[in-house]
Amino acid sequence: MAALCVNLLTVNMFLSVFFLPGDLAECPDKSKLFITAPKKMEALSGSCLHIPCTFTAKPGDAEFDSTRPTFGVWYKNVHAFANVVFNSSGTVNKYPMNITGNLSQKNCSTLFSNLTTSHTDTYFFRVNNGPYIATASCDPLQITVKDSPWSPSIHISAGDLKEKQSVSITCSALTPCPHSPPQLTWNLHPDSHSETEENTDGTFTTKLQQTITLSHTHDGYNISCSATYPVNGGRNKTAETQQTLSVSYAPRDTSASISPSGLLSAGIWVNLTCSSRAKPPISSFTWFKNTTDGPKKVHEGHMYSLEMTNMADIELHYCVATNALGDQTSSWVHLNVSDSFQHTAAVVAVIVVVALVCLALCVWWPKKHQTHRDTQSQTADWTEEEIHYRAISVSSQRPGPSSVSVQDSGQQQATVYARVKVKQPANSCAQPADEQLYAQVKKK
Ligand SMILES: *[C@@H]1O[C@H](CO)[C@@H](O)[C@H](O)[C@H]1NC(C)=O
Ligand SMILES: *[C@@H]1O[C@H](CO)[C@@H](O)[C@H](O)[C@H]1NC(C)=O
Ligand SMILES: *[C@@H]1O[C@H](CO)[C@@H](O)[C@H](O)[C@H]1NC(C)=O
Ligand SMILES: *[C@@H]1O[C@H](CO)[C@@H](O)[C@H](O)[C@H]1NC(C)=O
Ligand SMILES: *[C@@H]1O[C@H](CO)[C@@H](O)[C@H](O)[C@H]1NC(C)=O
Ligand SMILES: *[C@@H]1O[C@H](CO)[C@@H](O)[C@H](O)[C@H]1NC(C)=O
Ligand SMILES: *[C@@H]1O[C@H](CO)[C@@H](O)[C@H](O)[C@H]1NC(C)=O
Ligand SMILES: *[C@@H]1O[C@H](CO)[C@@H](O)[C@H](O)[C@H]1NC(C)=O
Ligand SMILES: *[C@@H]1O[C@H](CO)[C@@H](O)[C@H](O)[C@H]1NC(C)=O
Ligand SMILES: *[C@@H]1O[C@H](CO)[C@@H](O)[C@H](O)[C@H]1NC(C)=O
Repeated sequence: MAALCVNLLTVNMFLSVFFLPGDLAECPDKSKLFITAPKKMEALSGSCLHIPCTFTAKPGDAEFDSTRPTFGVWYKNVHAFANVVFNSSGTVNKYPMNITGNLSQKNCSTLFSNLTTSHTDTYFFRVNNGPYIATASCDPLQITVKDSPWSPSIHISAGDLKEKQSVSITCSALTPCPHSPPQLTWNLHPDSHSETEENTDGTFTTKLQQTITLSHTHDGYNISCSATYPVNGGRNKTAETQQTLSVSYAPRDTSASISPSGLLSAGIWVNLTCSSRAKPPISSFTWFKNTTDGPKKVHEGHMYSLEMTNMADIELHYCVATNALGDQTSSWVHLNVSDSFQHTAAVVAVIVVVALVCLALCVWWPKKHQTHRDTQSQTADWTEEEIHYRAISVSSQRPGPSSVSVQDSGQQQATVYARVKVKQPANSCAQPADEQLYAQVKKK
């Protein structure tokens, strides 16, 4: 057991000596400079990264003096001269960086512009203040440059959402580059404008915020928020987030229905069914009947079967649906009058049709086969070719039916006789020319 411990200790020492970068291995003993900055930062290629940074300088051989000119240096990977990527003196500008903070005020905030994925690395800060020179070996900064943007996040101010509750909904997006922040849009309020705010750690966040009073209609609603990041010389990069709202609400649309519907007669069994919408689901359905002593509970459960005595009795029933948030009373059971009416109407319609058919058979059919009855006004069922009109002189002075013989001179052999009825116009003051002449011609 002791041997194992010794072995592990040896392995640990071996790792410390040979595998940790020199500067890190020196930390914390030799380090005089410490920076306060995020340990890990993410950035979008084609955009920039604002690195919030302040430093504290412990005195060593020399002391930090803000009156002396101060230069800030960024190394990448490990603290080695060859790895200097930026020197605020202007001597090294390998990477597009700029120190935006006032180094005399120990502000090392840096703007890293025009990032590409190749900038992904670990960075170290160093201060040159006359004789005071120190590297923040203990505070490496890991920067990761991505090609795809971050999905925004949706936050709701309350956990369990209930109707009538007022909640604040926020969509927020990481904003590594506050100079060109993402544009946020959502379906909650299309006209809202996003705002970029500084966080306590010096990073930035872009937000859209809206306070809404929840209703049952918000249940199942998908909030979708999208963040569009502007990037150099390319298309904006967009990412979207969706969140579905789950809102509890008291029973709604509570109704009582009856089966079978339509024409009902005493003595049959009917089912009264109560239905409702609620979240969480209905915990109980209770049936009541209106009596002279007030409402009386008659049944529990969403369906109530009872024997019908009369329709008025059925119509005294109603149900109440209850869930954790409240209850709702249905209207009275209504027999579907329109249903009953439609059934009656259908029956009446059938009777009417049958009656009409009978009438047609009894009146029209026999007439058609009576060859000599001709006083009825009927449509002639002959074709044009069979009829030859000739000049007929009829005295309009003699109203009423009159017999006129007409001889067809064209075809002497086929003599046709006809009876012509002259009808007096309804309006006796009408001109003779306006008189209507109805001729009914029958083949002999
Ligand atoms: C940064 O530039 C200053 C001024 O030219 C120089 O004294 C210093 O050595 C440079 N630091 C590094 C690490 O290059
Ligand atoms: C750094 O700042 C200087 C002066 O403010 C400016 O001229 C230069 O373009 C900046 N460089 C970058 C990479 O932003
Ligand atoms: C550091 O400088 C930046 C400007 O780049 C400023 O936004 C920030 O507030 C300063 N930080 C402190 C602690 O003064
Ligand atoms: C930086 O801070 C020092 C000391 O507070 C001040 O004298 C100097 O003007 C500041 N520099 C800039 C560029 O603001
Ligand atoms: C950004 O970098 C690309 C190549 O990486 C270069 O073509 C472009 O000119 C740079 N833009 C700026 C503003 O530095
Ligand atoms: C809401 O979004 C989820 C996935 O995020 C999807 O499955 C669901 O169908 C969406 N609902 C509506 C009403 O769009
Ligand atoms: C990028 O988005 C901005 C608004 O954020 C818009 O004005 C611009 O037209 C967009 N550019 C492209 C290329 O889509
Ligand atoms: C009433 O409900 C019972 C049980 O679901 C069913 O068997 C019966 O057929 C229903 N009666 C009517 C008239 O709907
Ligand atoms: C039920 O009773 C109430 C009084 O308790 C009365 O106002 C209402 O009209 C009654 N409804 C029916 C359908 O009988
Ligand atoms: C009554 O019946 C008609 C036709 O079947 C139907 O359209 C209607 O929805 C019913 N009404 C009720 C309250 O059940």
